[in-house]
Amino acid sequence: MNPNTTDFQPFDLSCSRDYARWRTWKLAAYPVAASDLRVQLSNPGELSATGYDAVLAICRKANMAIYDFGEQPFNKALLRRFGLQFGLERLDMNLRADEDSITSLRVVPASGGTHYIPYTSRALNWHTDGYYNTPDQQVRAILMHCMQDAASGGENRLLDPEIAYLLLRDENPDYIRALMQPDAMTIPANVEAGSEIRAACSGPVFTVEKNSGSLHMRYTARTRSIIWKDDRDTRMATGFLTELLTGDSPCTFSHRLRAGQGIICNNVLHSRSAFADAPDTGKVRLMYRARYHDRIRGTALADFSEEVLACSG
Ligand SMILES: [Fe+2]
Repeated sequence: MNPNTTDFQPFDLSCSRDYARWRTWKLAAYPVAASDLRVQLSNPGELSATGYDAVLAICRKANMAIYDFGEQPFNKALLRRFGLQFGLERLDMNLRADEDSITSLRVVPASGGTHYIPYTSRALNWHTDGYYNTPDQQVRAILMHCMQDAASGGENRLLDPEIAYLLLRDENPDYIRALMQPDAMTIPANVEAGSEIRAACSGPVFTVEKNSGSLHMRYTARTRSIIWKDDRDTRMATGFLTELLTGDSPCTFSHRLRAGQGIICNNVLHSRSAFADAPDTGKVRLMYRARYHDRIRGTALADFSEEVLACSG
């Protein structure tokens, strides 16, 4: 098969044979622990071919990799160049990003009566980034780089959206049908100080990109500020997801980023535990986060469907 065709459609519910073949490939040698996602790298601005290939291979399989630059100097410009090597170019402009559209995540004092959890030391529930964005502004990839870890806590849990899809579809294909409805989830308008700064937005949880055949997921485990479609299958599907994410599923990975490490991913599901800073010892957590409208180049299903088909016979 030509790698750039869209003939192979495992995420289409009517293509059960494609799904079965993709599923075989997906589960073959799938990482079992966060350590399987790790790649030691050097020179973030210009990766070696070996380093690049290692990251790409893991991202093709699991939609995420944990990289480690150790104690090498790092800054936002290098983060930008690191991302560009993976086709990550179009940065998402979010309300609280710094001027360069890369967000410095750290504890900041509350202002104007609003206090967004990402800028506190509190736990962050499971979500994909930018789930409240409009359909044409979806966040397809994220880079999150740890400049400094906290004195304690701040562990991430991670789940590949394709594994979430697989488990849901295996349980009941109607769950996928429900979560693909264009009005499956609605984010109410964001109103601050009486004025609307973001309109209400409805959309599906799962979508399949037309050209590449790749799966995209929007999700939040928040129960406030989210309205799920009130039908049986959506309730059952979200209940299944909640159980999956709150339980001790072997499909989720746990990792606490240390300074010099980061996550490159196709906007996988993630959460963060609470943490504690210790300013006296310099252990004040600081993450650089870049969100992109691009998917990691080379990880679209159409880019390696030959490999998938070869694996599943
Ligand atoms: Fe996030």
